[in-house]
Amino acid sequence: MKFRVTAYHQHLLRDHERLSAFYEAIASAAHGLTYDLGAGSGVLSFFASEYADHVIAIERDPRIAACAWENLSGLENVTVVNEDALEYEFKERADTIICEMLDTALIDEEQVPVLRRALRFLKDGGNVIPAAVINAAEPVMIKGGSISYDENIRAPSSGPLCVYDRVDFRGRIPEKFRGTLKLLASDSFNAIRITSFTVPAENIICGPTPMMNPPLILPLGDTLEAGYFRVKLSYKMGGGLDSVKAELK
Ligand SMILES: C[S@@+](CC[C@H](N)C(=O)[O-])C[C@H]1O[C@@H](n2cnc3c(N)ncnc32)[C@H](O)[C@@H]1O
Repeated sequence: MKFRVTAYHQHLLRDHERLSAFYEAIASAAHGLTYDLGAGSGVLSFFASEYADHVIAIERDPRIAACAWENLSGLENVTVVNEDALEYEFKERADTIICEMLDTALIDEEQVPVLRRALRFLKDGGNVIPAAVINAAEPVMIKGGSISYDENIRAPSSGPLCVYDRVDFRGRIPEKFRGTLKLLASDSFNAIRITSFTVPAENIICGPTPMMNPPLILPLGDTLEAGYFRVKLSYKMGGGLDSVKAELK
């Protein structure tokens, strides 16, 4: 099937690792009335249309919503709505909610605010795809001193990756992360790198892919020697990179 898309969504469609992980999850869990929040080109709605009775694809960007409408127009059980999912009036409770507005540690996209609101319209026992996100951190050595994604830098690791949080999308989703990370450095370091793993369904786990969750570097200011150390970390999920605070304790 050929999809009409914008340049950004073309890259998303070419990310086969991301798509295959979501396809597996949708094939195993999507059913009944399914909302696809942040539907983009409509690709996940297209997958879901095979398993769900009715898919409502909600996308706020009018340009890509028009593409989704065209891409999905041949499917009788899909409705495309050009609206902000934070304002959409849900009329019926869903069996499944799909929401792929993922970003590293859920900081820079609206996955969490959108799901916190939409979960009120999920039936008891309903499914959310993805099911969860797991966040991990490790010490790294970087040149330069600003928060940045590690797509091109690939900073060398100075110690093991340590899981510090899991956000489950079916229960009560917190608005913020606030905690102290206890990490080990086997070499000198001046930053931490956050890596997010997506759990599309409970039996699937997916690390960063070309278009999903690029690792995020948070500078710490000073260069420290090897050893155990603690970092006080906080951010608002959906609050953007400006909400991130990382300081050595
Ligand atoms: C990472 S893209 C994923 C698109 C599609 N789900 C896919 O997997 O290819 C996220 C999409 O969510 C849309 N989006 C972001 N915030 C939104 C909101 N509050 N309401 C509706 N759509 C939103 C963006 O415009 C974008 O198309």
